[in-house]
Amino acid sequence: MPDVIVNAAAYTNVEKAEMEQDLAFTVNGHALVNICEEIDNFNRAQSRNLPLIHFSTDYVFDGNGNEPNLPFDRVNPINIYGKSKAKGENNILSSNVSYLIFRTSWIVSRYRDNFVKTILKKIETNSEISVVNDQYGAPTSAEFIADFLYELFQLESIESKKGLYHICAQGETTWYELADFILKTFVEIKGVPERALLPIHPIATSTLKTSATRPRNSRLCCNSLIKTFPFEYTHWKMQITEIVKVLLK
Ligand SMILES: NC(=O)c1ccc[n+]([C@@H]2O[C@H](COP(=O)([O-])OP(=O)(O)OC[C@H]3O[C@@H](n4cnc5c(N)ncnc54)[C@H](OP(=O)(O)O)[C@@H]3O)[C@@H](O)[C@H]2O)c1
Repeated sequence: MPDVIVNAAAYTNVEKAEMEQDLAFTVNGHALVNICEEIDNFNRAQSRNLPLIHFSTDYVFDGNGNEPNLPFDRVNPINIYGKSKAKGENNILSSNVSYLIFRTSWIVSRYRDNFVKTILKKIETNSEISVVNDQYGAPTSAEFIADFLYELFQLESIESKKGLYHICAQGETTWYELADFILKTFVEIKGVPERALLPIHPIATSTLKTSATRPRNSRLCCNSLIKTFPFEYTHWKMQITEIVKVLLK
């Protein structure tokens, strides 16, 4: 018998989603109808009220403006991945199931392929690196999210915390500034002179040929999360430093 139900599964390839629209909508959208129906059936049969804990994304917003997006700001996705994730959120909101939806952004980790590992590999081989400098958000460590979930599971009644929240690291940056921070952390840890490494080039998103449009403003306002759940909400620089340290060990 489950005590918690977490859905972190998703179709996450933003580029391929433009070509595989049906699959993206099936996994990120329609699957939530089925998941909610199953939870509802289970709750009725067992006289329980298990909520669904679901992860969503900053990509449900259009990225206009310069302020952090609030949980109940208008959703207006600009690519298929964002549209399919927004559909999933709507399917949960219109179900009978209690929910905690956590929108997050820019997930990085010591595990699997992600931005931090890609940049570190390029730094280690002193390769040319160009990174976009006009998308704003908060890089967030998967470990931070996992630790948050662990604390959440210790609470007496998760059901009473039902809602739509934003969860990401504190602070904001651009992908270019993040790459430069990784380079500076590398230099500090390895004790190599920065002049020995090629500098990272800031570029505009418009110079890249991509199928999917990316939101410029991916900032998420986490105030309602911070008010509701006591937790150590750390800055992105601290989270990135931890990952780089582990990867360079
Ligand atoms: N990564 C980010 O920057 C980011 C940002 C904002 C929000 N999010 C959200 O956070 C959640 C986790 O993302 P992630 O980055 O960890 O994604 P990920 O690395 O692509 O992992 C997605 C997982 O979903 C599984 N999955 C995909 N299709 C499935 C299906 N039809 N049935 C069962 N499982 C399926 C995949 O299984 P396989 O490994 O077997 O393929 C994989 O384990 C998602 O909801 C995503 O939208 C991620």
